Amino acid sequence: MRQSRDPADGLRQEGDRNIYSCWAQQPGSRGCGPLRNLFCPEGRPTPEIYPDPMRLGVIPEGIIDLIALLSGRMPLPVVKSFWGYAMGRTVLAGVRLGVFDALDSGPKSASEVARIIKTDPDATETLLNALNGFGLIKRKKGRYSLTTAARKWLTQNSATTMKDSVLFIGEVCREFERLEDVVRSGRPPHFHDLKRPEEFWNSYLRGLGTFARFGSREIVRKVRFDRPPQRMLDVGGGHGVYTIEFLKRYPSLTAVILDLPPAIEVGRKMIVEAGLSDRIRFRAQDMRVGDWGSGYDLVLLFNVIHAVPIDDAEGLIENAYQALNESGRLVILDSEHTGGDKDLSLTSGLNELLFFVINGTRAYPEARVREWLTKSGFRRVTKKHLLVMPMAMLLIADK
Ligand SMILES: C[S@@+](CC[C@H](N)C(=O)[O-])C[C@H]1O[C@@H](n2cnc3c(N)ncnc32)[C@H](O)[C@@H]1O
Repeated sequence: MRQSRDPADGLRQEGDRNIYSCWAQQPGSRGCGPLRNLFCPEGRPTPEIYPDPMRLGVIPEGIIDLIALLSGRMPLPVVKSFWGYAMGRTVLAGVRLGVFDALDSGPKSASEVARIIKTDPDATETLLNALNGFGLIKRKKGRYSLTTAARKWLTQNSATTMKDSVLFIGEVCREFERLEDVVRSGRPPHFHDLKRPEEFWNSYLRGLGTFARFGSREIVRKVRFDRPPQRMLDVGGGHGVYTIEFLKRYPSLTAVILDLPPAIEVGRKMIVEAGLSDRIRFRAQDMRVGDWGSGYDLVLLFNVIHAVPIDDAEGLIENAYQALNESGRLVILDSEHTGGDKDLSLTSGLNELLFFVINGTRAYPEARVREWLTKSGFRRVTKKHLLVMPMAMLLIADK
């Protein structure tokens, strides 16, 4: 059996409701077609606005596995909970210990890898075997080598490396360890605590910057203008990756990045590395208070609405309206939340929990965000779909 995309496994009860049910009525739902029935044995309807939500699940490796799966007697929730956790944790250990980088120069034995990464040879062999079982490393005649996917995403020298993102996910997992305490008490920590050490802010900004590099080009391509924008504001834009991509596309554009002081410390270094310091200014400020300046042609609210409590979220959109010039454009990028009172996509449910557990905030449904936009005075809201981030919500609104 392998861990992969698959339909839900009946963990939810018919009639369960979530607190977002009153926010967004889904315009309808469609049942599974014949092909979908193969993968969706329960024939469960899928929400219309997010037609194919990503799911993680178990796929069979052979005919016996397939029969076991189809028999419905396998305890799928238990299998998923252990394998899902163990796989994530093992990949994290591989990245932290440098296993993938050690194999980047070619196939090696376990003891050769251990020598490079300064670990115990026997223990290293078990880690390599687990990564092989998970399909990330190949194993032949006592030697291990990288799969294409591992080389592409997990090695430092790859142009598409996501190593910093995995390391940051490790930080988030530390917070997740407190899940039961937070659910019992309802008192989550404050993720953006200014007293956190420099290493935290460095890992946070560099991790998110790596995610951003992955999708920034497609986003900038999809946000079109009749006339090139001259001034932009990137709210919570810390690492500057999205700003940089806009500046590259529009040579006369200058930018202001508004963020918390420790985030700006890291962002400043990242901008210098990109060689664009002369066109970017920083504004160290809590985005929930004070004005943001004015006369911007473009304001970005990228992954910041979920970083504030609901009472502040609407205020961010109002602030953006005030900061924009008369024909300005607001672009919102955030985690999707299907809303409604039916089953949620994997990312909706997980993000909602994640943001609450680490920060006491939520992922807000698209319908709610659209309400805030209309209430603030924005007109003509359009939505774009991203191939690099199919689970993201990208909304463009004109003042
Ligand atoms: C999830 S990150 C998003 C970063 C970037 N916009 C992106 O999409 O990759 C949230 C950003 O908002 C900043 N932030 C969080 N709370 C803030 C606040 N109250 N005022 C200003 N910035 C804040 C964080 O420091 C961080 O840079």
